[in-house]
Amino acid sequence: MATRTAEHPRCAILASGRGSNARALLDAVAAGQLPCSIVGVVANVVDAPVLELARSRGIRAETVPHKGLAREAHEEHVRAVLTSMGAQHLLLAGYMRVVSADFIQRWPGYLLNIHPSLLPEFPGLHAAERQWEARVPIAGATVHFVDAGVDSGPVLLQGSLVARGDEGADGLAARLLTEVEHVIYPRAVRLFLDRLARGALPPTPNRS
Ligand code: GRF
Repeated sequence: MATRTAEHPRCAILASGRGSNARALLDAVAAGQLPCSIVGVVANVVDAPVLELARSRGIRAETVPHKGLAREAHEEHVRAVLTSMGAQHLLLAGYMRVVSADFIQRWPGYLLNIHPSLLPEFPGLHAAERQWEARVPIAGATVHFVDAGVDSGPVLLQGSLVARGDEGADGLAARLLTEVEHVIYPRAVRLFLDRLARGALPPTPNRS
């Protein structure tokens, strides 16, 4: 069981929707399994359920809508909010925005993301559905460092399951979420934090 101290890394979650991965991370922190603080949640979608989830846990939650803003202007606002939260590292959990190379290069900490496929296979949208349509025997999810590409950064951890022939795209997507994503994201963050504490990470894995 991890002990929380003031020196623990300060992480923020970026999300756009329901927030089930955010919930898995918050649960792991609350259970003392992750030696970090979640200092805030930032969503680009007004009324995203992840915001209420965060507030119900006493965590600051802010919306930075992207509509009507150029990417640079939106990211500038996001950066300002994250900085005001004191965030060091960013955990993307269903954040439906491509983060620009400029944002990545200027953010001083690490950025992690979770994606519902065994990268580098099936990057991009609707990955679970496309795995179903491709009839892959093994499907999975990946936690990776964020670089300037789409779901293309260095892999930190992957998990997989055996696809069932009768479950359909929705069934596969649901199992990927609950049986793989919610399991591997907290584990990957734990791995990340362990390596960070040991100085065992490259200094700039998220730089293009
Ligand atoms: C997850 O499948 C995640 O891998 C992908 O977006 C989805 C977000 O789901 N990037 P949730 O909001 O965490 O429930």
